Amino acid sequence: MADGPANEAPFRLIDGVEFGENVIVRSFTNLYGCKIGDNTQIGTFVEIQRGAVIGANCKIQSHTFVCDGVSIEDEVFVSHAVSFVNDKFPRAVSSSGQFQTDSDWTLLPTKVERGAAIGTGAVILGGVTIGARALIGAGAVVTRDVPPGETVVGNPARALDSKQ
Ligand SMILES: CC(C)(COP(=O)(O)OP(=O)(O)OC[C@H]1O[C@@H](n2cnc3c(N)ncnc32)[C@H](O)[C@@H]1OP(=O)(O)O)[C@@H](O)C(=O)NCCC(=O)NCCS
Repeated sequence: MADGPANEAPFRLIDGVEFGENVIVRSFTNLYGCKIGDNTQIGTFVEIQRGAVIGANCKIQSHTFVCDGVSIEDEVFVSHAVSFVNDKFPRAVSSSGQFQTDSDWTLLPTKVERGAAIGTGAVILGGVTIGARALIGAGAVVTRDVPPGETVVGNPARALDSKQ
């Protein structure tokens, strides 16, 4: 465990993050209550929420959002502007008209296995597992599990082989 990121950069909000050794965090990032493994690099304008876990030797590219419930194993590449989702049926307020609290919705956990890569602008719906070394095409919307090593594209994401 390290005290903080290995580099200096202005305009970072970092609160209660568990850092591994030699983690690089760029400017304009918002990281809170999450865990980030050794040597991982976090790009500009990335937000990582409380409860998210990122492994070692990962690259999280700029403008990506990683929410609570997401678990990313080692050596994963997450490209620019990738969005993870953890609430399948979102509502601002409950039936009583009050803003929802944690008890009003169900968190769907997501797992990204070792060495997988997620293309730019992909949306990963909650409750799925992306298998080891799978490749998610740019702009894909992943709605179900992706087997290890498979490449998927499109909305909804389907195996590239079956598309051809
Ligand atoms: C998915 C991907 C790996 C496929 O690459 P490839 O195997 O070389 O595939 P091809 O370019 O030969 O395309 C094969 C078919 O899939 C389609 N296709 C390729 N990528 C696609 C994508 N992201 N979404 C939808 N369709 C896609 C092509 O249009 C083509 O369809 P067609 O046969 O009907 O013309 C690649 O296109 C991709 O999206 N990589 C992610 C890149 C990225 O986000 N990098 C981030 C760092 S900059």
